[in-house]
Amino acid sequence: MEFSTKSGSPEKQRVACVVAGVYEPRRLSAAAAALDDAAGGHLAEILRRGDMDGKAGSTLLLHHVPNLPCERVLLVGLGKERAFHARQYREAMRAAVKALGETGAREAMLCLTDLAVKGHDLGWRVEQAVVVALDTVYRFDQMKSKQEEQDRPLRKLILAVPGRGDLPAGEAAVARGQAIAEGMRLAKDLGNLPGNVCTPAYLAEQARELARLHGLDVQVLERRDMEKLGMGSLLSVAKGSEEPPKFIVLQHRGAGKKDRPVVLVGKGITFDSGGISIKPAAEMDEMKYDMCGAASVLGTLKAAAMLALPLNVVGLVPTCENLPSGRANKPGDVVTSMSGQTIEVLNTDAEGRLILCDALTYAERFEPAAVVDIATLTGACVIALGHVATGLLANDEGLARELLRAGEAAHDRCWQLPLWDEYEEQLKSNFADMANIGGRPAGTITAAAFLAKFAKKYDWAHLDIAGTAWRSGKEKGGTGRPVPLLVHFLARRAGL
Ligand code: BES
Ligand code: MN
Ligand code: ZN
Repeated sequence: MEFSTKSGSPEKQRVACVVAGVYEPRRLSAAAAALDDAAGGHLAEILRRGDMDGKAGSTLLLHHVPNLPCERVLLVGLGKERAFHARQYREAMRAAVKALGETGAREAMLCLTDLAVKGHDLGWRVEQAVVVALDTVYRFDQMKSKQEEQDRPLRKLILAVPGRGDLPAGEAAVARGQAIAEGMRLAKDLGNLPGNVCTPAYLAEQARELARLHGLDVQVLERRDMEKLGMGSLLSVAKGSEEPPKFIVLQHRGAGKKDRPVVLVGKGITFDSGGISIKPAAEMDEMKYDMCGAASVLGTLKAAAMLALPLNVVGLVPTCENLPSGRANKPGDVVTSMSGQTIEVLNTDAEGRLILCDALTYAERFEPAAVVDIATLTGACVIALGHVATGLLANDEGLARELLRAGEAAHDRCWQLPLWDEYEEQLKSNFADMANIGGRPAGTITAAAFLAKFAKKYDWAHLDIAGTAWRSGKEKGGTGRPVPLLVHFLARRAGL
């Protein structure tokens, strides 16, 4: 899909389709009113007849509108003007792109980017238009023997901006939107691929490919390298599987050598059966998504490279499978992490923290400005925040605030939970320095409290994406979250 920005009156556009909004009840937006004037009240008449009331999500496609040079007009319901906020704007955009996909139009001019959205400027509206449009047309059919026909002719979206002076800002916003959407697409693809294809070796291969295409530095540590480093915790999880573990180090060098990097750490469990503490069969297939943290790190590095962010960013991806076998971790096993701290593995299904803790120790060598880990870590997070917000915990309030703000700006929101030392009590072990589980209460917080013991040397935040990285049910699929949040976070850090 191609995007451009354009200023100019909607009623003068010689395009296949002009898209304009209608508020509830039956109120034309400025662009729709301009079309209506040129068409001698044709649109107002249609509204009066009751064919379009402006309800959010509704659309009405019109042909042969009098006096207009465009072939079609698509009216999109926006809901009540007073309630027209970020989410409603995004939903209107989604409805428009869906409806356009059912027409024969190859290109369309979207006048929705002209609409006022409380708390957001034109740059945001253009960026979000691109992100939502590309998210809406995303399909995953790599694993089907016959690829669905590309019968949708829609190729180009022209985004309206008020004046010629707004074009440079508009173009920059398009580029930002495209980078975010590309990062999300990669994250979705990797998440949606099955565990027998998307193995640790596959992720490593994808990282190498990304490095080649975007000029990133890549290094893949093998089992023996991890043994030398003393990553006993990570390797204890990998032991249960025939697939060799990998540890990916991917770097975007956008700033000076001495500039301390932001390190992103992504959980890369390519399939989580639970191990010996095996999970129930129902919906176990969804545990192929247990590498979505890793996927979001790769997607974010791709976006950072596309935007040439003037910032150093390191992506770390510890990746392996969590399977039961004669060599697998057993409840009660004690393992020694790279930090030297020992861990009693009371539940082999709490494996994410076991691979992340060694990656957090490895991160020290980069003298990071900040470390953010991203993980589908706890079912408890889904109970606490549902599928709306990502869980956020941090050992530094400034970093937490940056991530909260980035989530708002990207409309990919996270919500903070406390990380008070009281919670550490739950991790006490009779036999090792700590246990890998803290019981039922506050499962998301005790998981973070565990990780915090390995993140004492730098500012650190943890994003629990168990509820936000994919959707279940009929629309099952990766969401690409939290790539938008992370790209905004990095862009701000880079001073953009
Ligand atoms: N990958 C899962 C977390 C998960 C579960 C994400 C369901 C999304 C949906 C993680 O490895 C896990 O199994 N966590 C356990 C931890 C428990 C044993 C302390 C959980 O949440 O049940
Ligand atoms: Mn698990
Ligand atoms: Zn897991």
